[in-house]
Amino acid sequence: MTEHVKLIWQDKTFELPVITGSEGEKAIDISKLRQMTGMITMDSGFANTGSCKSAITFMDGERGILRYRGYPIDELAEHSSFREVAYLLINGELPTRKQITRFSVLLNDHSLVHEDMRSFFGSFPRASHPMGILSSMVNALKSFYPYLEGEEEELNATVARLISKIRTLAAMSYKIFRGHTVVYPRPDLSYCENFLNMMFDTPVRPYEIDPDIVQALSVFLILHADHEQNCSTSAVRLVGSGRVNLYSAISAGIAALWGPLHGGANQAVIEMLTNIVEKDIPLKDVVLRAKDKSDPFRLMGFGHRVYKTYDPRTKIMKKMCDRILTKLNIHDPLLDVAKALEEIAVNDSYFIDHNLYPNIDFYSGIVLRAIGIPTNMFTVMFAIGRLPGWIAQWKESMDDPEWRLNRPRQIYTGPTKRAYVPIEER
Ligand code: ACO
Repeated sequence: MTEHVKLIWQDKTFELPVITGSEGEKAIDISKLRQMTGMITMDSGFANTGSCKSAITFMDGERGILRYRGYPIDELAEHSSFREVAYLLINGELPTRKQITRFSVLLNDHSLVHEDMRSFFGSFPRASHPMGILSSMVNALKSFYPYLEGEEEELNATVARLISKIRTLAAMSYKIFRGHTVVYPRPDLSYCENFLNMMFDTPVRPYEIDPDIVQALSVFLILHADHEQNCSTSAVRLVGSGRVNLYSAISAGIAALWGPLHGGANQAVIEMLTNIVEKDIPLKDVVLRAKDKSDPFRLMGFGHRVYKTYDPRTKIMKKMCDRILTKLNIHDPLLDVAKALEEIAVNDSYFIDHNLYPNIDFYSGIVLRAIGIPTNMFTVMFAIGRLPGWIAQWKESMDDPEWRLNRPRQIYTGPTKRAYVPIEER
């Protein structure tokens, strides 16, 4: 029997059905609210608003839980590859050997980028941010790869193109902006090996693939692969709800991810930590500034809309930081500062009272630095990781029989009706 909640307004009582998820979370179904009461709901920032039902990712912000398709994030990070996680998110189940082989062949077949796209890179001003370039290039893919006959074939090819080409595009942009020779993908390398090789191999110094670096990159991408209805994923779903093509929906997701309050935080954290180290700023002063309401400064890499406890991804990322820096014999002063800053913040009553803990971005940049990724490409790395999640969420929305064009309402607060004033009378 469906549960209901009662809404009492003036002398009337309205009954609204309750929707229960597979983990017991509950939502009040207000889809008939305006019809019943003439009113809408208001929820700035959508902090209490569910936009869809989804079977992809479960997160519990109070208990620090994250699972993809039911599998705990720590188990996937330990045992799985990014390619396998991408398959799981998009198709719902872990692949068999045959399925993963087929998926790999498809990724390999679609890994090259149309040669004409290379000339685009040269047209962007030198100072362009790689996220702006990536968003434009992904949107442009639609013009280069026209529709294939057969819905399933088209979808499989588009998914493979996106996952494979985003990595080629990212590495290509790095090479072109450095004025280096572009390195093409190789069929004998895995997804992560290929990316590293395309980034760092040169005709005069062949790149030596280090399995620990490959593992660090794979874990980084797995940890970013999905996070339910976050800002960029909601952008993909919203833009996609107008039934635009998948490339354009993903391009919108990349643009949304760019912001420093979302994916851009990994770059902002490194810039903040570098500033602290270079100017030798006392950490107590940094924390004081973050608490000062008259100062717009926030501790970057701290806080999360959903997690009100330690982000489960941060634990894995922090361990990965220690492991990769030890392995590569790197002493990064930014890691020392990050750990010391965390120690002060998590014991400070402001951060405790506001439930502010380090999020994944607090440590991810240090891993990327150790791998050799330039700071302005950090958010691009996040986008490569998040892509399978965006695709899975878009696909789920397309297959949902209840799905409608996303079109929120508003409460108008502007002037009421007034007469037009001719320009000479203003
Ligand atoms: N430093 C200092 N204070 C903070 C921080 C922070 N990093 N984050 C939140 N607060 C405070 C706010 O000032 C506010 O205080 P108040 O209630 O006393 O006015 C309170 O905590 C709630 O903040 P909101 O902005 O309302 O929280 P919201 O859920 O909207 O924001 C967000 C979440 C955007 C992530 C925020 O914590 C933030 O700006 N963090 C820094 C940027 C960052 O690391 N972003 C990455 C997020 S993870 C991701 O997208 C991959």
